[in-house]
Amino acid sequence: MHIEGCVTVVTGSSSGIGNHITGLLLEKGAVVYGLSRRETVFPHDRFRWVRADLSRPEEIASAFAEIRKAHPAIDLLVNNAGLGAFGDVETITFELWQRVLAVNLTAPFLCTAEVVPGMKARKRGMILNISSVAGRRGVKGGSAYSATKFGIAGFSESIMEELRPFGIRVSCIYPGSTDTSFFSGTGLHPEKLMKPEEVAQIIVSAIETPDGIIPDQIVIRPT
Ligand SMILES: NC(=O)c1ccc[n+]([C@@H]2O[C@H](COP(=O)([O-])OP(=O)(O)OC[C@H]3O[C@@H](n4cnc5c(N)ncnc54)[C@H](OP(=O)(O)O)[C@@H]3O)[C@@H](O)[C@H]2O)c1
Repeated sequence: MHIEGCVTVVTGSSSGIGNHITGLLLEKGAVVYGLSRRETVFPHDRFRWVRADLSRPEEIASAFAEIRKAHPAIDLLVNNAGLGAFGDVETITFELWQRVLAVNLTAPFLCTAEVVPGMKARKRGMILNISSVAGRRGVKGGSAYSATKFGIAGFSESIMEELRPFGIRVSCIYPGSTDTSFFSGTGLHPEKLMKPEEVAQIIVSAIETPDGIIPDQIVIRPT
């Protein structure tokens, strides 16, 4: 996809990997809407932050309604926002389980449903879903998190098959441990961390692949 002029939505633009993806897309000439709870600032007239708590379906609906007023057609959706929640299974409360599912799995579904009708009508578009290596292999203490990341992998694969006849490309990205605020408060301290800007670069290079191919699944690991 040629990024210049693309109308894009990046969830979780306020920090970490999503913040770097947003910066790179702006550098390459995209119009970017960043969705998050904390304000995202980029000194760019092609950037607009839309406040949304993605655990709340009604806030997702109103964010997309606001975006559509200015840009009815969205070319690219990056479902990046995510919440790390770790702990032994019996210590995970129902409230936490529901919040992780809402942000990591239900929000990507709702955001996808917002953009697909327009993409189908125009027979073009791309959706990137950020899973994790914990979405390929369960990790100790990661029952809630891994469940959502396996879930988004299955969601991705299904919509990839469903949408490819319409010229819409779907990719699922599986990053390993990356140096962002993600681990703060989880009590986890991974040994080797990748840089978020480097992970973002790989994700953006997947977006830039030719429209006739689908970079279906990309696993990113540290050396
Ligand atoms: N870091 C890693 O090691 C790693 C590894 C594999 C996969 N991942 C995945 O990569 C993605 C990005 O994570 P990161 O490492 O960049 O972490 P991060 O720095 O903690 O960023 C998470 C982003 O998600 C947003 N977010 C969380 N809850 C939200 C909510 N309720 N509503 C709206 N936005 C919300 C945050 O925005 P606000 O707080 O402003 O709302 C923030 O912008 C996640 O899906 C994560 O699971 C990360």
